[in-house]
Amino acid sequence: MILMGISGSIREKSYNTGLLQSVVRCLPEGVSLTLFDCAGLPLYNGDVDADKENKPGEVQRLLDELALCDGVIFATPEYNYSISGVLKNAIDWASRPAYKSVLAGKPVAILSGAKGVVGGARAQNHLRDIFSSTLSPVVPSPPFLVPEVQKKFDDRGVLTDEGTKIRLQRYIEDFVAWVNLLDKR
Ligand SMILES: Cc1cc2nc3c(=O)[nH]c(=O)nc-3n(C[C@H](O)[C@H](O)[C@H](O)COP(=O)(O)O)c2cc1C
Repeated sequence: MILMGISGSIREKSYNTGLLQSVVRCLPEGVSLTLFDCAGLPLYNGDVDADKENKPGEVQRLLDELALCDGVIFATPEYNYSISGVLKNAIDWASRPAYKSVLAGKPVAILSGAKGVVGGARAQNHLRDIFSSTLSPVVPSPPFLVPEVQKKFDDRGVLTDEGTKIRLQRYIEDFVAWVNLLDKR
C-alpha cells in the first residue's frame, strides 16, 4: 500500500509536518508513506489549469503522486478557524475536473495539530466539507486532533507525548485497515 502525506504548513519546524513524520513509525509492514511538500506549488490559476498538456511541474507531480497512491493523510494547521491557504491551494489544483479528479474516491485521513485547545477541530470540519466536494471518503474514525500541539513535541520537532503517540498509532492502524477493506470491495 502506498500512502501519501500532505502537510498544510510549509514552516520548517511545522508540528503538522512533524505529525506526518511520526506516522512513518506507525505503519505496518508493506505500507509506505511519501510526503509531498506544497511549498513549490504555484497559486491556483484557472487559465494555467485549462492547458491540460502543460501543467506546472510541481502540479503535475502532485497529480501523478495522488493518482498512484492508495490513500492520503492530510495534516492541517488551523488558521483563523479554517485550513491554511497552502493546503486549500494544493487541494484546488488536485480537484479538477470536478467529481472526476484524482481525489474522487481517494480515501483520506485527517490529522490536525494546533496551539488552541480544540486542536484544529474547526479546520477539520472545513476540510471534511471540502472533501465532500471532491468526493473523497474520510476514514470513519473519531477525529485525530492535537490541542496545545507545542507541548507535545521536543525542541528538535519530535513528537514526544505518549498519549498522542498511542492515539496516532490507533488512528493510522484504523486508516490502513479501512483502505484495505475498500480495496477488497
Ligand atoms: C495566520 C494564523 C492563524 C492561526 N489561527 C489559529 C486558530 O484559529 N486556531 C489555533 O488553534 N491556532 C491558530 N494559529 C496558531 C497555530 O495553531 C500554530 O501556529 C501552529 O503551530 C501552526 O501549525 P504548524 O506548526 O504546522 O505550522 C494560527 C497561526 C497563524 C500563523
